[in-house]
Amino acid sequence: MPRPWWRDAVIYQLYIRSFADGTGDGLGDVVGIRSRLPYLADLGVDAVWITPWYPSPQVDGGYDVADYRAIDPTFGTLAEAEALLAEAHALGLKVLVDLVPNHTSDQHPWFQAALTARPGSPERARYVFRPGRGPSGGLPPTNWRSVFGGPTWARLPDGDWYLHLFARQQPDLNWDNPLVRAEFEDVLRFWFDRGVDGFRIDVANGLVKDSAYPDLPDDPGPASSPYFVGHPASDQDGVHEIYRAWRRIADGYRPPRVFVGEAWVHPPQRLARYVRADELHTTFNFDFLKAPWDAVAMRAVIDDTMRTFGAVGAPATWVLSNHDVVRHVTRYGRAAGHENDPAGVTPTDGVAGTRRARAAALLLLALPGSAYLYQGDELGLPEVEDLPAEALQDPTWERSGRTDRGRDGSRVPIPWAGTRPPFGFGAGGSWLPQPDDWKRYSVETQAGDPASTLTLYRTALRLRHAVPALGDGSLRWLDAPAGVLAFSRQPSFACVVNLSPRPVPLPAHKAVLLASGPLDGDDLLPTDHCAWLQTG
Ligand code: GLC
Repeated sequence: MPRPWWRDAVIYQLYIRSFADGTGDGLGDVVGIRSRLPYLADLGVDAVWITPWYPSPQVDGGYDVADYRAIDPTFGTLAEAEALLAEAHALGLKVLVDLVPNHTSDQHPWFQAALTARPGSPERARYVFRPGRGPSGGLPPTNWRSVFGGPTWARLPDGDWYLHLFARQQPDLNWDNPLVRAEFEDVLRFWFDRGVDGFRIDVANGLVKDSAYPDLPDDPGPASSPYFVGHPASDQDGVHEIYRAWRRIADGYRPPRVFVGEAWVHPPQRLARYVRADELHTTFNFDFLKAPWDAVAMRAVIDDTMRTFGAVGAPATWVLSNHDVVRHVTRYGRAAGHENDPAGVTPTDGVAGTRRARAAALLLLALPGSAYLYQGDELGLPEVEDLPAEALQDPTWERSGRTDRGRDGSRVPIPWAGTRPPFGFGAGGSWLPQPDDWKRYSVETQAGDPASTLTLYRTALRLRHAVPALGDGSLRWLDAPAGVLAFSRQPSFACVVNLSPRPVPLPAHKAVLLASGPLDGDDLLPTDHCAWLQTG
């Protein structure tokens, strides 16, 4: 049997609002994506994942869905989405879309019906409604906090409280209700029937809650986030039954459809439970994304990942950035421990960050398994750290009392061409302002430049397809000086990353296939560089 494509696919994340604007309204859209499909095919990725494109009030960048079976008019139409699927497939690209099953928008007809229904009614039973505590029920049912800051329960005028792990416009669904399960199984079929190759599952660890709704310990500090290990709204055993049912649906299609879970779960042994043979196919590896630029820490994550995913027969996955975290060019340019500074005051060394990001890209693509790229990674885009306060749209900004600038700095629209904003993103402006100097990062600027980050990604992706050792499989660590990661893959391939402060000699090899920057003299790998070697 041929190896399933998803075991070593390189999947490109399209944050639809910021990728390409075909209609000139400042927001990316389906027409924009279609016009750039040849770019993606040429880049050499195997698949794209498109962030939510459904009708939505856009309180949380589309992760507040009002209708799961349509396209938001600002993004396009269902017919355009179907055309996109056909065009992508004709170019050999698979398409994953985003499923948001933990919560709906408060504008979803189900929640609208719940608002006008009685406490205890079937309409409310599709969401997590609970009575309050205290003499008049005026206190929230639990002391949990929202992921975005602030309270996680909201009260209706009739006294009933509803749960929202995210913004109050994102009420949590009640996955103990069979009607909710049936609805989402139907939504899966709706998109699979239209040719979608799979789903990325939003907040895959959150659907099932501890039915006792226990309080968190007093003053839980960082543990207040539902992404924390042991939170009663995260990683409950009951969630796996949902994914077993979904897997049966996906396996019923020809070719079988696939799932990647967004599960912020620790330790890796718990995460691996999501990708057992009859559950999700893959899951994002956030431990790798969070690892500092440090050889010991990175090696530990790589070993843990290979061991725990291997134990359940699932491929490892690797990711450096997405629309929720500070871009890795910037993270790697900051002091360890301050990579994700939410206030945006940490000094960043852009030169070191870029050097490390280029090396990390080659590491990512040489590791066994599947890899995710976030749009703009291939251009070496940094986080935009100085967006004006009035431009910020992430709900985190307001909900944190304007202390956490949120995630908009990683969501600034892509610079394609030209000398001035919006740099070919569209004919109108762009929903978040681009820095004036982003011409230097544009696709047009980088396309013909052999030293550019875009050229590095293109070459690496081409080699990844051509070199038999790359993709799915295993690795063997090679002896290397402190601060250096070196591993071999069969047949005849080695990858060396120098995270130490001094140049190191490359191990024996026949040829240097690719390096993230010029080598020092004769076969010395400089600090913060990575090389791919042909060893036989
Ligand atoms: C996921 C998404 C994030 C969104 C949240 C709520 O973490 O990646 O962007 O805000 O879920 O849906």
